[in-house]
Amino acid sequence: MSAVLAAETPRVLSGMRPTGSLHLGHYHGVLKNWIRLQNEYECYFFVADWHALTTGYEDTQGLEENVWNIVIDWLAAGVDPNFATIFIQSRVPQHAELHTLLSMITPLAWLERVPSYKDQQEQLKDKDLSTYGFLGYPLLQSADILVYRASYVPVGEDQVPHVELTREVARRFNHLYGRDPGYQQRAEEAIRKLGKKNAKLYVELREAYTERGDREALERAHALLERQKNISLGDKERLYGYLEGGGKIILPEPQPLLTPASKMPGLDGRKMSKSYNNAIYLRDDPKQVEEKLKTMPTDPARVRRSDPGDPDKCPVWEFHAVYSDDKTRAWVRQGCTTAGIGCLECKQPVINAVLAELAPIQARATEFARDPATVRALVADGTRKAREVADATLAEVRTAMGLGYA
Ligand code: TRP
Ligand code: SF4
Repeated sequence: MSAVLAAETPRVLSGMRPTGSLHLGHYHGVLKNWIRLQNEYECYFFVADWHALTTGYEDTQGLEENVWNIVIDWLAAGVDPNFATIFIQSRVPQHAELHTLLSMITPLAWLERVPSYKDQQEQLKDKDLSTYGFLGYPLLQSADILVYRASYVPVGEDQVPHVELTREVARRFNHLYGRDPGYQQRAEEAIRKLGKKNAKLYVELREAYTERGDREALERAHALLERQKNISLGDKERLYGYLEGGGKIILPEPQPLLTPASKMPGLDGRKMSKSYNNAIYLRDDPKQVEEKLKTMPTDPARVRRSDPGDPDKCPVWEFHAVYSDDKTRAWVRQGCTTAGIGCLECKQPVINAVLAELAPIQARATEFARDPATVRALVADGTRKAREVADATLAEVRTAMGLGYA
């Protein structure tokens, strides 16, 4: 292969739960970002159907429909199967295999301290989330990421701890299984030469770093080795290497790619969300979109047309912030604060802009919805490709763990 092709494009992986139709919040907050990334990276985007089960295991009636619909919404928004690999999690069983293997080396406490564990249990009080699957879902997510050896994971703020867990699990895996035979023994002999007290300290600091990612411990261990006068250079180097795992990196640590928080507000000024009933869906009929915007609340103090208003207290202003240019925004400020324009008049440019944004998305959605065979075929293609990559990782993982037989 030519040298030009040798540099590998970093991989990006992200998933979404199939929990219902996507709205403008998803589009501005996630999908536009994916569409940007697919041009720069080797992207894998998957329908996280197993993740949907971790909270929605009781009612799986709508799952299948949601799976196909979310794929159609992605395609309609501009996720392009020529650039990105689109697939369904449950059709790539290697995710589950890696999850099982990683579960063997993951301390329970790591899962219990993931913030979403307690948060979600509090928030979803109507569901019984004291299940094994729910506790383990961040580790399933780690497997999702590590099985593709992804470099980057685009996520929102709330998911950063999951990527952090993934890094810790990868580090622990590499530490346990990434070493050459004999390496361990040589390192242990070198440790003994440090003398009882220093050896104990070295072991403690090393554990703090390799198992908990404690960077300060790593620095202290370096300082400890620096101070040693009575060990050979070879042993010293061995002990430096041993601190950081020192062996092969089988599962590289991914980095979060923090998606900037979407400014897309809902119709009532709160974050756009299905549960707030304040969303405009990508496939809402244009009439419905217009109706939703025309009836959305405005500055509550502006009761009559003749009352001046304050855009800063109006959800419509938030829409102008997303959709309008400076000139239109100046027109709104001026017209609103002097009662020079009415609220319906003020909403019109937003209505036009949202409809213009949705028109090509809806045209594509209609085409894909009419042609389920094409959608299925392209997901089957993506799934096949994903499975190949995932299986290559598993082959190495199995061997590293001593399961390389048969
Ligand atoms: N947990 C994510 C969510 O609930 C979805 C998800 C599953 C994911 N696996 C992932 C996101 C891997 C990024 C990478 O939204
Ligand atoms: Fe809101 Fe516009 Fe009405 Fe002012 S004129 S209250 S910004 S909708």
